[in-house]
Amino acid sequence: MKRHQKIDTPQRDHRLDGMVQGVLGAPLDRIDGSVKVQGLAPYAGEARLPGLAHGVLVRAPQIGRITGMDTDRLQRFPGVLLVLTEGLPRNSAQGTADTAPPSSGDRADYVGQPVALVVAETLEQAQHAALQAEVAIAATGGVTDPEAADTPVETPEKKQLDLGDLDRALAEAAFRLDETYRTPTLSSAPLEPHAAVAHWQDGRLELHGSYQMLKYNVAQLADALDVAPDRIRLLAPFVGGGFGSKLGIGAEAVGAALAARKLDRPVSVRLHRRQVFEMTSRRSETRQRIRLAADRDGKLTGIGHDSLVSNLPGEAFSEPVAQGTRFNYAAPNRRILHQIARVGRISAGSVRAPGEAVGVTAFETAMDELALQIGLDPVELRLRNMPDCDPVSGKPFSSHMLAEALREGAGRFGWQHRPPRSRREGEWWIGMGMASAVRVNMLMESEARVTLSPAGEALVETDMTDIGTGSYTILAQIAAEMLGLPMARVSTRLGDTDLPPAAGSGGSFGASSSGSAVYLACLELRSRIARSLGCAETDLTLKDGDAIHANHRTPLAEILAGESWSAVGHVEPGQTAKDVRAGTYGVNFAEVAVNDVTGETRLRRMEGVFACGRILNEKTARSQCHGGMIWGIGMALTEALLHDPRDGHAVNRDLAEYHLPVNRDTPAIGVHFLDERDDWVGPLQSKGIGELAICGAGAAVVNAIHNACGVRIRDYPATPDKVL
Ligand code: MOS
Repeated sequence: MKRHQKIDTPQRDHRLDGMVQGVLGAPLDRIDGSVKVQGLAPYAGEARLPGLAHGVLVRAPQIGRITGMDTDRLQRFPGVLLVLTEGLPRNSAQGTADTAPPSSGDRADYVGQPVALVVAETLEQAQHAALQAEVAIAATGGVTDPEAADTPVETPEKKQLDLGDLDRALAEAAFRLDETYRTPTLSSAPLEPHAAVAHWQDGRLELHGSYQMLKYNVAQLADALDVAPDRIRLLAPFVGGGFGSKLGIGAEAVGAALAARKLDRPVSVRLHRRQVFEMTSRRSETRQRIRLAADRDGKLTGIGHDSLVSNLPGEAFSEPVAQGTRFNYAAPNRRILHQIARVGRISAGSVRAPGEAVGVTAFETAMDELALQIGLDPVELRLRNMPDCDPVSGKPFSSHMLAEALREGAGRFGWQHRPPRSRREGEWWIGMGMASAVRVNMLMESEARVTLSPAGEALVETDMTDIGTGSYTILAQIAAEMLGLPMARVSTRLGDTDLPPAAGSGGSFGASSSGSAVYLACLELRSRIARSLGCAETDLTLKDGDAIHANHRTPLAEILAGESWSAVGHVEPGQTAKDVRAGTYGVNFAEVAVNDVTGETRLRRMEGVFACGRILNEKTARSQCHGGMIWGIGMALTEALLHDPRDGHAVNRDLAEYHLPVNRDTPAIGVHFLDERDDWVGPLQSKGIGELAICGAGAAVVNAIHNACGVRIRDYPATPDKVL
């Protein structure tokens, strides 16, 4: 039995509001937490298959044409089984494309590109040989600076916007701003390094891989290996963070699969930390020129957002910097210029909240500057510019609680009690700043199966991934609520492509999409239970394992009478995805202390308020926001992957030199969710949450720095040398 729904109309079915189990939304601990902290959760690189050989990727030392490799010499190193130089992709694939990433061929397009795989009996032998590898390259040099005069730049027509007359708005404005902001290359830096363990049997590949979107990853692998997708099984029951860098397969997966096929034995390829920085996708650096025109009352009349990002030649992805600028504030005149420089730097791809993470951050810095210029409270400036529909298309918002978030956040943070000028405590200047958060919201096609066992227990199955986000837990919560079962009677299986194909984890659509599929499967089971009791599904109450109808309580086990009942739910976006503008909204407030002597900035406290539709688990949702806000601290203060100006290589490619905020850098963080149900976005009325809090979080911090000491940072991050 299958229940399929295209989201074509607003969801008037508020069934979950009347649910009685009381599980959905509750701040439950993650059900996978215990195996994780015990070290019992199997991660991809830990698969120990009999006869396992180990592969280590070799990096390109220069940009140019690869003229040869000393494979014969490497083959004679102890333990070496194979040196693979063909068929490796030059980077990890992007987004939802189901084709393999482009292969290296005989070109090294950037320094650090994987160009060979050395496979040996042991990891140490493979590492030893790979270190000795000499890749001969006819160095052609290459353009590596996106802003250099001779760098090729593309301006794809589809990505531009010109609405009204921005020049005129600027000319006639009472207040205008024209400033340029820069954000550096950023790394996703997941805790679990990318890894793949491949094993072929009877022409069928089984691959343990650390990936986010398995149904696409299978298609990509099939394309790279030239086999049918149904000959591939991908296993990713646990993923230790992805943040976009595991959306697509990389050289580790293709290399492991090719080598395993050649050697006819299992092969493991695990990136080491420096390779995670260098061989997986980065977030492009950006240059953003922002122009704002405002009238006397602080109402925006014009918005201009020009961005320059970069990627390798031939890559489809480009950081959609101004995505949030299409709908953040009202203004009749709006121009967006989007340009892509083609450079020999690590491939650029999706990193947490691609677009808004850096675009909203720069924009919200500009808004702070404008507010000061006008002499308006920064919160008030934003409130005066609330759009009542999508400013570009005129479509209605599915729901829009930015104004409420601004007011609630200001109250919680104590914004109105801000001292009129910055305070000083010894060597420290204290200041406060804020920034709105906006992010697009999406639903993606997703499928799940729910099975009721004769004992009245439920099993949820889908190839959805849990990348540390809480998928295991929220999917079980949805099933528990819908089927009236205690959590202990629901189990969840994820991360296996033998299970129904899910949306996967990306773009903040994972929870709502895979959750809707689980919801629909449960709805089908509820209908069947109702039929067997001879009542309407809407007259049925399921609670604590019993079906209650007309004051009659029947245990589920009795209804099932020794059978198992299974149902599949399938959701896909329909017309509403085109008819409304769905987004998520929020605000970040920050208080900082800036050291007058050293220029060091310390966060004192941070407070976020977010509106993301129904919250499925208050604890995991809050953790997502903590993560996003901490990324904001990193973006504001410390994170930058630096490229050597001579050859573009990433200089600080480890966790010692790429500075992520640690506990010591992170203050008490408050997160509050507004009570919101969005009828347009799916039966759960929930929206994406993973990527919202990062959008603009860095701006709240640099705006606070300005408030503290008067230094305006437009070149992120605000390292002490820039603050002093
Ligand atoms: Mo995300 S950057 O779509 O994992």
